[in-house]
Amino acid sequence: MAGPVRINIPSTIVTGAGAFDEAAPHAARSGMKHVLVVSDPYLVEQGLPDRLVDQCGQTGIEARVYGDVTPDPTDVNVEEGLALFREEGCDGVIAVGGGSSIDAGKGIAVMATNDGPLSEFAGYHRIPRPGVPLYAIPTTAGTGSEMTRVTVLTDTERNVKMMMLDAHLLPTAAFVDYTLTLSMPRPLTANVGVDTLTHGIEAYVSRKSGTMTDALALSCVDLVGRHLVRAWMHPDDHGARKGMMEAASLGGMAFANSSVCLVHGMSRPLGAVFHLPHGLSNSVLLPAVTQFSLPGAPDRYAVLARKLGWAGEEDDTPRACALLVDGLRKLNETVEIPTLRDCGISMEALTGALDKMAVDALESGSPQNNPRVPTAEEIKTLYLEAY
Ligand SMILES: NC(=O)c1ccc[n+]([C@@H]2O[C@H](COP(=O)([O-])OP(=O)(O)OC[C@H]3O[C@@H](n4cnc5c(N)ncnc54)[C@H](O)[C@@H]3O)[C@@H](O)[C@H]2O)c1
Ligand SMILES: [Fe+2]
Repeated sequence: MAGPVRINIPSTIVTGAGAFDEAAPHAARSGMKHVLVVSDPYLVEQGLPDRLVDQCGQTGIEARVYGDVTPDPTDVNVEEGLALFREEGCDGVIAVGGGSSIDAGKGIAVMATNDGPLSEFAGYHRIPRPGVPLYAIPTTAGTGSEMTRVTVLTDTERNVKMMMLDAHLLPTAAFVDYTLTLSMPRPLTANVGVDTLTHGIEAYVSRKSGTMTDALALSCVDLVGRHLVRAWMHPDDHGARKGMMEAASLGGMAFANSSVCLVHGMSRPLGAVFHLPHGLSNSVLLPAVTQFSLPGAPDRYAVLARKLGWAGEEDDTPRACALLVDGLRKLNETVEIPTLRDCGISMEALTGALDKMAVDALESGSPQNNPRVPTAEEIKTLYLEAY
């Protein structure tokens, strides 16, 4: 028997329309006096962080905005935010935005209480002390970062994406308000939606999966099957947006306590080399990597095909597996996920990067959780198949 399983999730989760408005009162009740709001330039322009600052003011909390988080957030974002946090004498962080803002907020919250360069904390369970209280308000559906003890921050000196997993990175509270996602344009809905699906699938087939994470992962996949295409087709459909937001949070809870596998292992190097959004680099790999992985856990993949509504009870395992791969390809087409070629990546550029990407993928540790563990050569072939 494997050893005991540890599950970490935020101690307070508020979901549904209006959850956003609960953050400031909750902060006040928890004793926060001076908050740093972390967000990105687009959302600042839309006025969302300022809305939160106003609500904080109404509950007697002072708030300042650090609004310069970049996509694929960096150590520089963390340093800038931390400088403002200290200058203002803040005692808590509220991150509002997509995975980038939330991940930057996590970095700031732990660097406020820990010494040493951020790069020392890369890897698993390496952060000595808890950070300051951190609330997460996601605006994409999504990375699930609001539920996870994970952050991905780029080390700008070495140009590598540092993955950190530590319970000290877990938000204290998550306010999950699907109405914030109604403004997502179609390409963003598609990218982050397939990222969510990948979290559910990988958490379920992972070698680290367990009874509790299975329940979360299957709920995630079920919701994506029912709501992703509708949310993409009808951006203002509240039911579909709500379903995808819940799927994103459930997917985050699932993968952070099980693990991601080969798709994420291969997508990080691909995104780093070719500067692709996280969700997009997962989406282009998902069908080919699933096809490769089927022999490692055919019954589990068959369950996923049925959850997605792409196979019925009458379909046996081999047929359900085939329908799953077929369905993933069709889903990418339906929500207009571009191919690597459409993204302007040439075959020469891809071939030239294969060796480094395969090494980086294996070094991340994620492929080792996959139901079928690939060699470096097999990883290279999979990149080419996804082209
Ligand atoms: N920590 C984790 O557990 C975890 C999991 C998966 C991914 N990630 C990380 O998350 C990051 C990606 O996050 P993301 O995909 O949410 O995108 P993002 O945060 O990078 O945002 C992408 C763009 O969408 C805009 N945007 C955000 N919400 C919007 C809305 N409601 N309407 C319109 N535009 C909106 C942003 O302003 C930004 O320009 C990557 O850095 C990835 O590594 C983290
Ligand atoms: Fe992801």
